[in-house]
Amino acid sequence: MYCIAMKIGQFILVVVISTFSYGNNNAPLLLNGNCITCHHETKSISAPSLKLIKKRYKNAFPKKKDFVQYMSQWVLKPNIQGSLMNDMIQKYSLMPELGFDKDTLEIITAYIYDENY
Ligand code: HEC
Repeated sequence: MYCIAMKIGQFILVVVISTFSYGNNNAPLLLNGNCITCHHETKSISAPSLKLIKKRYKNAFPKKKDFVQYMSQWVLKPNIQGSLMNDMIQKYSLMPELGFDKDTLEIITAYIYDENY
């Protein structure tokens, strides 16, 4: 009896852990770990704030699909020609390439689109 109870307990634990690690949307984690180092949410310190970036990009791309597509492509390969923020490149110099794949960047940029800064 004791053994069965232990097994059931273990099973429940595994289910709970898997739900937390795979079932959740990890966009905030990705954003916070990888972008917040340089981009503060509301203040432009060592790079433009996410709030400012979002404002500029939403002006140019009001639709979420276009916004996500353009921004993730740019972050994949930052470049002067495609920039919507040339003044920020002048001020802070061009953002470095970070080496994320496109899928990850689409998750992150979709989150930026939805977030209220
Ligand atoms: C090492 C610091 C650094 C990190 C990390 C960083 N950025 Fe940047 N980013 C910058 C700087 C500096 C600029 C302003 C200059 C520019 O536009 O290239 C910038 C500009 C941008 C722009 C505006 C692009 C344009 O010019 O139109 C976007 C969008 C952006 N970052 C998204 C991200 C996202 C998403 C992440 C996380 C995956 C991220 N950044 C991580 C430094 C960083």
